[in-house]
Amino acid sequence: MSKVVLITGCRSGFGLGAAVAAGRAGYTVYAGLRDLDTADGLRSATADLRVHPLQLDVTRPEERGAAVARIAEEQGRLDGLVNNAGVALGGFLEQVEEDELRRLFDVNVFGAWGMTRACLPLMRQTGGGVVIQVSSMSGRVAWPGLGAYAGSKFALEGLSEAWRHELQPFGIRVVLMEPGAYRTDIFGRNRTLCRNARAPDSPYAPWMASLDRLFAKVVDRIARDPQEVSDRMVELLDDPRPPLRVPFGPLARPRERIRQLLPFALTELAFAQAFRWLRDDQA
Ligand SMILES: NC(=O)c1ccc[n+]([C@@H]2O[C@H](COP(=O)([O-])OP(=O)(O)OC[C@H]3O[C@@H](n4cnc5c(N)ncnc54)[C@H](OP(=O)(O)O)[C@@H]3O)[C@@H](O)[C@H]2O)c1
Repeated sequence: MSKVVLITGCRSGFGLGAAVAAGRAGYTVYAGLRDLDTADGLRSATADLRVHPLQLDVTRPEERGAAVARIAEEQGRLDGLVNNAGVALGGFLEQVEEDELRRLFDVNVFGAWGMTRACLPLMRQTGGGVVIQVSSMSGRVAWPGLGAYAGSKFALEGLSEAWRHELQPFGIRVVLMEPGAYRTDIFGRNRTLCRNARAPDSPYAPWMASLDRLFAKVVDRIARDPQEVSDRMVELLDDPRPPLRVPFGPLARPRERIRQLLPFALTELAFAQAFRWLRDDQA
């Protein structure tokens, strides 16, 4: 019998690629979509595979429960969960409104927490499994202008580290995937700035345009093909002893080394210098 995996956020990006790669690797895949009407890309990419599109907005507890109930009924097992669904939010923290921060945490934190919780009884019944939490390099380092997003991924990292210990007795492995920049819809169709980001009277206005240019350069020059992240996720599904954290992609090694070796005071100085450059660049 083939192993069964549930992947959230499969309309585009890492999720779509992971559904295809897992299907090709022989998994039976339940591919969650926030809106089933957007499943055309998934359906055409997986026509000859055991990939089942599934209505699943991760912020809706009733949809989380229904998804797991369907898998239990049709397969009677669940070997893997990939909490991939996620949203970003650009803007300086003072500009972010409470409803925007709540919405972000609803998807990136409560969504992943609720999905994991809903899946655990079936995974335990299966005899174990793996939970891949799609974090980010922003789950380890908080960049100015991306603090809300970083806060949500830091929260996911904390929950997942504790879960790693708590679920180990049940043979359930928890892994944090920490990709760098990849060319997905998060930088296009799904790119989101907070409502106040471009307010002309904002004290942060001198930095906003420069940050825009900086992010555009990152996407242009550094961001890579997302399929390599999707393929790595599928390898991790089958890894009996995965590390807790898997930093991955552009600049992953140097940034991990810098994080370990550089005292925070130096990071702070570097950011302060960058802030000065960005403001002067704008003047
Ligand atoms: N791309 C990068 O450089 C990068 C780097 C580090 C981490 N990540 C993380 O990777 C994950 C996937 O992002 P991506 O880069 O592949 O971007 P993406 O192409 O925008 O994919 C995000 C997916 O999440 C779905 N989604 C959003 N809200 C949802 C909800 N409430 N319920 C269910 N699905 C929902 C989106 O569906 P709709 O489009 O229908 O809303 C979309 O399918 C995210 O967790 C992101 O934070 C991305």
